[in-house]
Amino acid sequence: MNTIDGAPCKLTVCRGCCCGTKKKVPGVDHKAQLARLSAIDDHSARRVPVRTSKCLGICFQANVVVVQPSQEGRAAGGRPVWLGRMTEDKLLDAVDDWIFEGGPGIVPLPAVLEDHVTSKDAKKPKKRKKPKHSKSAKKERKEAKEKLAKQAKKDRKKARKKAAEAAPAGTGPLDGPVKNKAAKDDAKKDGGKKGSSKKSGAEGKKSKKSRKDKS
Ligand code: FES
Repeated sequence: MNTIDGAPCKLTVCRGCCCGTKKKVPGVDHKAQLARLSAIDDHSARRVPVRTSKCLGICFQANVVVVQPSQEGRAAGGRPVWLGRMTEDKLLDAVDDWIFEGGPGIVPLPAVLEDHVTSKDAKKPKKRKKPKHSKSAKKERKEAKEKLAKQAKKDRKKARKKAAEAAPAGTGPLDGPVKNKAAKDDAKKDGGKKGSSKKSGAEGKKSKKSRKDKS
């Protein structure tokens, strides 16, 4: 708890380019919130000094409030606590209660404020999702498409090979042309035989005629 002698807790409330603006943080009565923070008293009934500051450099955390420890709290190891996204009234109430109890270094941070602790070095989280029409997104889509096409080609090749191995000899798809060729050869041979038989028939007739003439 604060003592009458030591300096009380202090508040720094960011009111820069983003914090406290309706454009960045719509739907919040920023003036009323500043007035609310400016009316905080500590346990010794001392008014907590509030200083508004220019941009504190972490606009993505707007609105930013920094709670500085009392002299006693600092002596006990307390350090300034940066709080971000301080837009709800219940969060301001929690800050009020915390300071009333003693603030940083004297009592632990209220649970409701834990998710709001930030720092002056906080980095803006990167957006995971890439815009649909960005160059890198297009490249990624193209690569994925090519990969799929390659895989499909491989699968088709494998399936053909398997089918050829599974089929009995002479019935596979690769045997078709060979079979046809063999059939053509047979047909040629047959044709030749037919021709020769015709020829032999004619010769037979000739020899018959010559035998008649002789007789
Ligand atoms: S305006 Fe508050 S951090 Fe930038």
